[in-house]
Amino acid sequence: MKAEILSLLRRTDDYISGEELCKRFGVTRAAVWKVIKGLQQEGYGIEAATKRGYRLISLPDVFSAEELESRMSTEWAGRNLVFYESTGSTNIQAKLLAEEGAPSGTLVVAEQQTQGRGRRGRTWASPAGANLYFTLLLKPDFEPDKASMLTLVMALAVQSAVTEVCGMQAEIKWPNDVVINGKKVTGILTEMSVQGEYIQHVVIGVGVNVKVQEFVPELEGKATSLEQESGRQVSRAALLEKIMEYFEADYALFVKKLNLSLLMEAYNAALVNCGREVRVLDPAGEYTGLAQGINEKGELCVKTADGKLKKVYAGEVSVRGVYGYV
Ligand code: BTN
Repeated sequence: MKAEILSLLRRTDDYISGEELCKRFGVTRAAVWKVIKGLQQEGYGIEAATKRGYRLISLPDVFSAEELESRMSTEWAGRNLVFYESTGSTNIQAKLLAEEGAPSGTLVVAEQQTQGRGRRGRTWASPAGANLYFTLLLKPDFEPDKASMLTLVMALAVQSAVTEVCGMQAEIKWPNDVVINGKKVTGILTEMSVQGEYIQHVVIGVGVNVKVQEFVPELEGKATSLEQESGRQVSRAALLEKIMEYFEADYALFVKKLNLSLLMEAYNAALVNCGREVRVLDPAGEYTGLAQGINEKGELCVKTADGKLKKVYAGEVSVRGVYGYV
């Protein structure tokens, strides 16, 4: 009821009477007042006027299950929300929930992760109060070989949301890092469970550096946060709300063709590597070339000095700028 009252207050400019709230939720005035008092204690500015009711006049930067639930306007992405103050890893929790029957679109969010995991077996620093850590669970009915493209769909959703919420241009470093001013702000770790020829579930885990100001020496100059770059406060809840909106819309375009043909243009427009010289760290042999953008499978097309067009498949291959990370 708390999230629903908050959602109603958020969507109404005028007062909502206590009586209307009582009727809507089938509870007493005292029960409504208790919820309002709780919200006020969390920092929500709610004006209570005799005979008129309640009105939301200011919003704090709260990051909680209720705040997120009251914001979600998507059809399915993030509508079933599981929030942890602290958990090992949202990817691991999402996989457990998937096995227990959680629906596709379940969003697992944590204020803190004690065993945040990055790609290639790395750890992902996940202190409380600083960043966004979440995993979206999907149970798609397409073939497993299509699933790697979902990471690119999520990268595009995060890039669009960051650009909109922070009012500054975020870009994508192929295949799925989101960068600002050439430094990484987001990492994505997608994991899949397959049985026979069918996907049981896919979990897309996303970490966004929002408020963090200091990085370990190895990441100095390579990683940054949204607040560090924009110099202004960024609401994690507003950002996650937008990411879910963009993801749901982009996913619909992906599913229509089961490839990235309808998203390629937007993705390539955001691709920091596009038209740049890149170094492809292929285990079979490193080479350089001019990045042309992705194709509909999400492969990076690179033109080498001898004029050949190579298609780079994400997997174990990394791409770097010739002079550094991008
Ligand atoms: C990378 O190495 O770039 C990927 C980092 C992914 C981190 C996120 S945080 C939420 C989710 N839970 C995890 O344990 N990892 C992902």
